[in-house]
Amino acid sequence: MRNLNQDTITQAVIARLAGTPDARLKEVMTNLVQHLHAFARETRLTEAEWQAGIEFLTEVGQHCDSGRQEFVLLSDILGLSTLTVTQNHDKPAGLTESTVMGPFYVADAPQLSGGEKLSADRPGQSCRVSGRIGAVDGSAIAGAIVEVWHCDSDGLYDIQQGQGEQRHCRGVLHTDAQGRYQVETVVAPSYPVTADGPVGRLLGAMAAHPWRPAHIHFRVSAPGFETLVTHVYREGDPYLDSDVVYGVRESLIVPWSEDAQGRCVIEFDFTLQRRSA
Ligand code: BEZ
Ligand code: FE
Repeated sequence: MRNLNQDTITQAVIARLAGTPDARLKEVMTNLVQHLHAFARETRLTEAEWQAGIEFLTEVGQHCDSGRQEFVLLSDILGLSTLTVTQNHDKPAGLTESTVMGPFYVADAPQLSGGEKLSADRPGQSCRVSGRIGAVDGSAIAGAIVEVWHCDSDGLYDIQQGQGEQRHCRGVLHTDAQGRYQVETVVAPSYPVTADGPVGRLLGAMAAHPWRPAHIHFRVSAPGFETLVTHVYREGDPYLDSDVVYGVRESLIVPWSEDAQGRCVIEFDFTLQRRSA
């Protein structure tokens, strides 16, 4: 295999992948090579642009650590996360829609046994979030695991605030016998994604803003049901139609009302999809 040129290089790489024992890896890599090469051809990629791209991706990697995932952010602002979520969770009507996980999920969040505030010691307007988890036939799902996380009133997640930072605005609870859950916390505002790195620079070059509309993240799981990763958004938020990560779905927007005591009240019921046998 010598003297490869712009007309023969793609086939040469695909031929080398032909012996890949893992069939799915072979399919993914073959498609990736085909599309990458087509991209370079169609855009007539210059060597300087190739170099700039390598430097950009290197910097994205250098901006990843345990509290920050710049690659996820890059995928999010390119719409790749939403594309992947929507093509894998194309749900029949009646089921709660999924949206992006985002980079701030923590698998071992504190268990809430009842009564304590999700927001721990964080200041802010009090907020009660409650609802019911059920199946599409209306039956309650008791004992469902509800993982909740959101930013504090400064627009920051706990894991963005340093290693030693106490967990706040995140926790795990279980639904009761009627499938109900209830969380006491503080109001989560709209917030800009972290924009002081290469992805923020790219957004700047696109003249695009870095804001996400106010939301609360949920991951809901129960035996026999598909795990749901989603958000609940604030009705009327100015960023609902320009979310920097393309995560908004109409069915996930609800009023964040105020009760007589000035407390924010959010009600949202989740409907999970039964796992197919
Ligand atoms: C989030 O909602 O936590 C999030 C999602 C995507 C990128 C950055 C943050
Ligand atoms: Fe978020």
